[in-house]
Amino acid sequence: MDVKEAIEQRRAYRSFETVGITKELIYDLAECAQITASCFSNQPWQYVFVYEKEMLQKMHSVLSSGNEWAQKASLIIAALGKKEDDCVIHDRIYYQFDIGMATSAMILRATELGLVAHPIAGYSPKKTREILHIPDNIDVIALVIVGKKSNKIKPDLSVKQIEEEKNRPERKKIKDFVFHNKYGGKINDKN
Ligand SMILES: Cc1cc2nc3c(=O)[nH]c(=O)nc-3n(C[C@H](O)[C@H](O)[C@H](O)COP(=O)(O)O)c2cc1C
Repeated sequence: MDVKEAIEQRRAYRSFETVGITKELIYDLAECAQITASCFSNQPWQYVFVYEKEMLQKMHSVLSSGNEWAQKASLIIAALGKKEDDCVIHDRIYYQFDIGMATSAMILRATELGLVAHPIAGYSPKKTREILHIPDNIDVIALVIVGKKSNKIKPDLSVKQIEEEKNRPERKKIKDFVFHNKYGGKINDKN
C-alpha cells in the first residue's frame, strides 16, 4: 500500500471484531512514531499501549457517552505529552502538533496493516490518568482505538454513526481551506 492509498483507506470506523495484538505490532507502530519529525527533534510524544483483557475492561470506564463502541477495542493507545518537552516559540506551542504528527504516522501504519485506528477525544482524562498511572503534569492528548473492522455494522451505533460506517463524512471543499498566494486567494481549478 502506498502512502496515498493508506491516507484514503484510513477511516474512523466503529464496528470491530477482536484481533490479536503482538509485540511485533507494538514495536512496528512505536517505530513509526519514533522517526517522526518534531521541533528541534524534541520528540515530545509518550504512549501507553493497553491490550490485556483486564486493562482493556478497566478502560471502558473512561469512555464518554456515545463512545461505547470503543469497548470492542483490541488495543487502546493513550497519546501523552507535555508542553515543556517541546518548542514554545513566543505564542507558538508545538507539542500537540508534533504528537499529532507521530500519532498520525502510527494510524496510517495501522491502516496499512489492515487495522482500524480511530482517535478519540471523548474520554475522561482524569479516569485515564488514574487507571494508567499517568502523572498529573502530563496531558492525555488522545486515545487511539485499534481493532479489526467488522463487516457487520454494530447495531447499537447512532443513526449518524451508522451512516458514517457506510460513507465518509463530508469534507470541506478544497477551495475553502487552500489558498493561492494570499490568505483567501483563489486556487486554480483542478482541471
Ligand atoms: C482529535 C479527534 C477526536 C475524535 N473524537 C472522537 C470521539 O470521541 N468519538 C468518535 O466516535 N469519533 C471521534 N473522532 C473521529 C472523527 O469523528 C472522524 O475522524 C470524522 O468523523 C471523520 O471521519 P473519517 O475519519 O472516517 O474520515 C475523533 C477524531 C479526532 C481526530
